[in-house]
Amino acid sequence: MAVSRGEFSSRLGFIMAAAGSAVGLGNIWGFPTQTASNGGAAFVLVYLFLAFTLAYPAFMAELLIGRYGQANAVTSLQKMSRTLFHKRFAFFVGFSGIVCAALILSFYGIIAGWMMSYAIEPVLTITGINSGAEWVITQSLPRNILFTGLFMFLTIFIIRRGVEDGIEKWSKRLMPMLITLLILLIAYVFTLEGADEGLLAYLSPDISRVLEPGLLISALGQAFFSLSLGTSVMVIYGSYISKKENLVTLGAQVTLIDVSIAFLAGLLIIPAMYVAQAQGVAIFAEDGSLISGSGLVFTVLPALFNTMGSGGLFVGFAFFVLMSIAALTSSISMLEGPVSYIVERHDVERKKATTFVGIIIFLISLAIISNIGVMLDFVAILATQYGQPIIAMLCCIFVGWIWHRNEILQEIQQGNEHVGSSFFWKIWPWYTKFVCPTAIAIVFIHSL
Ligand code: PFF
Repeated sequence: MAVSRGEFSSRLGFIMAAAGSAVGLGNIWGFPTQTASNGGAAFVLVYLFLAFTLAYPAFMAELLIGRYGQANAVTSLQKMSRTLFHKRFAFFVGFSGIVCAALILSFYGIIAGWMMSYAIEPVLTITGINSGAEWVITQSLPRNILFTGLFMFLTIFIIRRGVEDGIEKWSKRLMPMLITLLILLIAYVFTLEGADEGLLAYLSPDISRVLEPGLLISALGQAFFSLSLGTSVMVIYGSYISKKENLVTLGAQVTLIDVSIAFLAGLLIIPAMYVAQAQGVAIFAEDGSLISGSGLVFTVLPALFNTMGSGGLFVGFAFFVLMSIAALTSSISMLEGPVSYIVERHDVERKKATTFVGIIIFLISLAIISNIGVMLDFVAILATQYGQPIIAMLCCIFVGWIWHRNEILQEIQQGNEHVGSSFFWKIWPWYTKFVCPTAIAIVFIHSL
C-alpha cells in the first residue's frame, strides 16, 4: 500500500515549522549561557560566522537530500545511492540520525517537563495551592515522570495529526506566541536596574578570545544543535517542501530566524542575570564563573522573579511558558523523524506509529529519570556532542562524494532556475565536499 505523504501547504508553514525545530532550549538557554561564559560578544561574532559559513551549508545539504528523495531520511539517502555499498551506507547514516533524534527527545522531554512544571507553579501559587506549588518545583521521581509524560503527550498529540494539520498548524500558532513573549520580556527586563550592565557584558566583545579553541568548539556545537543537524529532522522537513519552492532562500530565512532569536534571547537572559545581581541574587559560582546550566534557569531566574513580588509571578509564568513553547516546537520535529520512517518503511498507519514511537521514547526517558544524575548527561553528550556532528558530517560526505553534481544542480534549481549561476551554487558543492566535513571533523576531534 502506497502511503500518501504530507506536504507543507505554504512557504510560511515550512518556515515556521523548520524555525520551530531550530528555535528551542538551545537558543533561549544554551546560547546565552555559552555567550556569558565565553567572552560575551566575541562568542556571538564567532557563532554568527560559523552559523552562516558552516552550519547553513550543512543545513542545505540535509534539506536537499529530503527534497530530492521526497521520503524519510533512510529512503531519501538511498535514492541518491548507486551501489550496494552506498545503499548500506545510506541506511547507516539515515537510521543513525533517526536514533539520534529519538535519544535527544528522550532527555529533552525531561527538561521540557521541568519548564512546564515551573510554568504551572505561579498558577498554583496564585490559586492558593501552595503545597502543589512547592511540589512541582521540587526534584522528585513522581514529579519528573508526571511532567515528562505530559510533555510527551503534547508532542504525540501534535504529531499524530500529520504534517499540515499537526506540525504546520501548531508551529504557525506557537512561533508568533514565542516571539511576542520574548520581546515583551526583553522590554520589561530593560526597565529594571542592572540591565544596562548586563547589556554591556553581552555586547562588548573580548576580541582576544575569538580564536580560542574552546570558544570555536562551543560555537560550532551550538550552531549545529540549534539548526537540529545530524538528526534526520531537516531531511524529513525538506521532504515536505514542494518542488516549486526556492530552497536556498527558505534555508537562509530559517537560519536567519534561528540566529536572530538566539541573539534576542541573549538580550533577555544576560541582562536578567545582572538585574538579579542588583537584587542581591548570587550570579557567580565559587570559581568566579557566571552560574550557567540548570542553576541559571531553575535557581537564579526564579530567585529574580521572587524579588518582583506578585508581578514576578506573571513574569515567571511568561518566561517558563516561553521555554515550554520553544521546547515543544522542537520536540515535535524530533518525533517526526522516527515516525515518518516507520510509516513509510513499515507501512504502519501514522497515528499508531506516533503512539508507538512516543511510548518507546517515553520509556527511555523513564530509564533516564530513574538514574538522572548519571544518565541525563550521558545521553545528552552521546547524542549532541558525538551523534549530531558525526551524522551531519556523514550527510555532507554523502552529498559531496556520492551524489552526482548534475543531480544536485537539478535539485537546487527546482523553484529557482537562476541559482546555477549564483556565487552560492558555485562554491556550495565544493564546500560540502571538502570544507564542511573537514571543519566538522577538526572541531569534533578537538572536543574529545
Ligand atoms: N534546535 C533545538 C534547540 O536549539 O533547542 C534542538 C534540537 C531540535 C536538536 C531538533 C535536534 C533536533 F533534532
